[in-house]
Amino acid sequence: MNLKAETLSRIDEVIPHYPVKRSAALPLLHLVQEDQGYVSSEAIEWIAEKLGLQPINVYELVTFYPMFRQKPIGRRHIKVCRTLSCAIMGGYRTCAEFQKQFETRLGDVSPGGDVTVEFVECLASCGTAPVVMIDDELHERVDAARARELSDKIKAGAPTDTGRR
Ligand code: FES
Repeated sequence: MNLKAETLSRIDEVIPHYPVKRSAALPLLHLVQEDQGYVSSEAIEWIAEKLGLQPINVYELVTFYPMFRQKPIGRRHIKVCRTLSCAIMGGYRTCAEFQKQFETRLGDVSPGGDVTVEFVECLASCGTAPVVMIDDELHERVDAARARELSDKIKAGAPTDTGRR
């Protein structure tokens, strides 16, 4: 496994916090996904070996919890909220605009690898719907026009950061 040194040291730090090693499986999956962008079969085997489990035990967690991805994602990860306030305020149109701009489908890596667009549940900023996360940046009131502006910046490799997290 080709993990960053920082991830490896966080993994070594996390495991002893659990009285039973296997209980560290979920935090390890989060750390690996944060590092690699997804959880590969290699990662599943690596975590299983690290925790003295069978790969099937780790695989079951990956398939049970919807937050784990089993495929790589694009360079930028666009997550559009689809919960009530955002849905009412046009979140589905926002998402469709991102997909159109990058000629991609939900969950796929766009041609050229710029982005992966996905729906997510409430991002806890319902008063400023529709809300979008791009990597770890929070973007508020993202209507279709704003989605086009953000897409243009991403295509140009320009920063999209609003300073909100
Ligand atoms: S409903 Fe979208 S942020 Fe809460």
